[in-house]
Formats: sequence, C-alpha cells, structure tokens
Amino acid sequence: MLKKLQFPKGFLWGSATSAHQVEGGTRNNWSQWEQMNATRLSQEAKTKWKFWQQEKFPEMFEPKNYISGLACDHYNRFEADFDIAKELGHNAHRFSIEWSRIEPEEGKFDEKEIEHYRKVIVALRERGLEPFVTLWHWTNPIWLEEKGGCECEEFAGHFSKYVGHVVKKLGKDVRFWITLNEPTSVIASAYMSGVWPPQKQSYFVSWKLYSNFAKAHIAAYEIIHEFDDDAQVGFANILHSFEAYDKKSLLDKLMIKIGRYIANNRMLNLTKGYNDFLTVQYYFHNRFKFPRKLHLSDKVESDLGWEIFPEGIYHILKRLKKYNLPIYVTENGLADASDEKRTAFIQDHLLWIHRSINEGTDVRGYFYWSLLDNFEWDKGFWPRFGLVAVDFKTQERKIRPSSLEYAKICKGNVLEID
Ligand code: BGC
Repeated sequence: MLKKLQFPKGFLWGSATSAHQVEGGTRNNWSQWEQMNATRLSQEAKTKWKFWQQEKFPEMFEPKNYISGLACDHYNRFEADFDIAKELGHNAHRFSIEWSRIEPEEGKFDEKEIEHYRKVIVALRERGLEPFVTLWHWTNPIWLEEKGGCECEEFAGHFSKYVGHVVKKLGKDVRFWITLNEPTSVIASAYMSGVWPPQKQSYFVSWKLYSNFAKAHIAAYEIIHEFDDDAQVGFANILHSFEAYDKKSLLDKLMIKIGRYIANNRMLNLTKGYNDFLTVQYYFHNRFKFPRKLHLSDKVESDLGWEIFPEGIYHILKRLKKYNLPIYVTENGLADASDEKRTAFIQDHLLWIHRSINEGTDVRGYFYWSLLDNFEWDKGFWPRFGLVAVDFKTQERKIRPSSLEYAKICKGNVLEID
C-alpha cells in the first residue's frame, strides 16, 4: 500500500556544495598540497582500492584526478546550476565562501570577491532558494597555512576578522550561517591519521584543535549576533552512528562510548550555548568489536565502500533531541556513479528522519550532498556524489534519474513509499 509521509510545513529541501570542491581556480592550502601529492596519490590507488573499484574508476590512476583545477567551474556557472536546483524543486541551498578569495593576503580583503558572493546569494534568493552560508569548509588561505593553519594559536582571531568582514558586507542578505564544516573530520583525517594536509599525526595537536575550533566557532557566533540578533548560527557536525558488535560485551560498549564522545559529542559540549540550531552530516555507521572497527562485507556499499545504513540517522537524531534546538541535516549523500542506489538511499534516510520527526524531533531541513559531482578531496574526481552528473572535460551537466525522484519529494513536501 502506498504510504504518504508528510513533512512539516516550511521544511527546507536542498543540496550542498563547498567552494573548493566545485568552484574551480581556488588557491589555498589544499590546492598547494594537491600539486605536491597528485602523483603519489595516483600510485597509491593500486593498494588503497579494491579490484572492482579500480576497474570501474580507472581515472584514479591518473595524477590529474587529484588536482582540483577547474573543478565544476561553478564560480562562473553558479546561475545555471541554481536554475537546475530550482527546477528540481529545492527551496534551500548550502554553499561555502572561500576564505582565500576574500582575504588572499592577511588583512587585505578583496571587495570583488565579496561582490561575487553577493551575486551568488542574490541568484539563490531570485530562485526562491534559502541560502545556508558556510564560512569555512576546510580550506585555509596560504598565508594562514604558513602560520600553522588551524593549529596556530591565533586561528580563532584570524577567522574572526574574516567573518567580521563577510558579515558586515553580506550579513543583511543571509539568515543562516554555518561557521565551520566538520571540525572533527579535519582533526581525524589531517591530524590523527595524517592523510590530509598538513599530514600531521599528533594526538597532542589533535586535542588542542578541538579548543581552537570551538573558540573560532564561538567568536564567529558572537560576531554574527552582534550584527544581527535574528541570525541563525550553527556549525556543521559530522555525526557517526555506532553499534557494539556484541551487545553484551562491556568492551565493545566501552569502545562505542569513547567513539561517540570523540567523534560526536566533544565539539557539541565545547560550543554549548552558542548554537541556534544543530546539524547532522551523516555518512558513517561504525560497528565495534573490541579492540577495532569491523568491516562487514555483506552490507550494501557506496562506490567508496562505505556501508549504507539509513537507520543510523534516526538514532543520531534521537540523541540530539535533548538539546531542544532546531536540527538541519546539512549533508547526507553517497558516491554512486551509476545512480542505482541513490533513490533508495535518499528515500530510506528520509523515512527514518520522518520517523524521528513523528517522535518529536525538531528537524527542519534536509540537504543532499551534493548538487554536483565534484572534487572529493584526497580521492579526487572519481567518486560521484552528484544529483547532477558533471562531465569534467566539457563541463556538461546531466540530471540523474534519482534527482527527479528527490524532486518529487521536495515539490510535494511528502515522501511516498510502498
Ligand atoms: C564533507 C564534504 C565531502 C563529503 C563526502 C563531508 O564530510 O563535508 O566536503 O565531500 O563528506 O565525503
């Protein structure tokens, strides 16, 4: 029987992008690192990915896969891209401002770039898309990186000056601000495992970074509110779902407690009182069997080999209920080049989100990651997350069938399922 699951009135539907991944032509710590590491990354693909992935995505062996370069040329094509989002029934869109464009040299702000982002915001509003503006999505200006980037003592101070400038110039057109994107992903991948720039492996620095990021968020929160009392400010938090392999094992349960604290709760605790809304960015389900994480090969996976576990988002949302704040799912998506799994992925996650809304969780929006296929950081261009496929040679856009299914949900504010 057909079930119609209605979402609350005014629910925001959209997708998300980030500057470095889509704009093209950025010059920051990542673009520098890419130049130095592309060859190495292309060589490592042989040992890093499974045979089926290597066969399906041979571009992973080419160094140019790892150079963001022109990306989706979204810097020049944003209007046409937003036309697509509008056509797909979206009423909101999350994007990020590239700090290195706004402040290419310390203390020198580029007004042309401010104007660019003003046009981006106007273009969204003209199409009826509510802008969710992220102020930092992992990339640092080179001058800041040279001072130590996120780990330098003055990170929050530098970030505040940039935020102050942006908010003064663009603040009257923006209601929703996201200060930082997934601080804990940077801590884990750049400073714990040492895979991303600056490739450190230091638990000491990692620990310090939590407080650097919390300070930066709180300072930005205050600056934005000084300018506009009604603004809504939060940070984008990646939240993992955890499961003890053996529900009776104290050690497995202890592992997930520690995991949950480090990955999900610490940033929330440190920024308590300084969030007008909470966010969920959900990609990962972790099963722990002491002393490590389990990878069960019988599970449905994305092209990246990430397990698809929609129920996880329900448990995450349930845990956020106690904070009594509005919640936006600011990212959820999968790499699926052939688009075989994306429709079910979106529907299944929305089913669990709807269930948690029914049980009283105040979820107010859902942003699929991503509008476009884009540059997936150290993995480059081969993982295809887009609602819209991008041919990176011609910049041609092609709407994927799943995005039309998602459009039905957005337009009707309802999920219809058998
Ligand atoms: C990040 C995106 C990234 C996506 C898929 C999120 O954690 O915010 O930048 O592309 O995950 O890996």
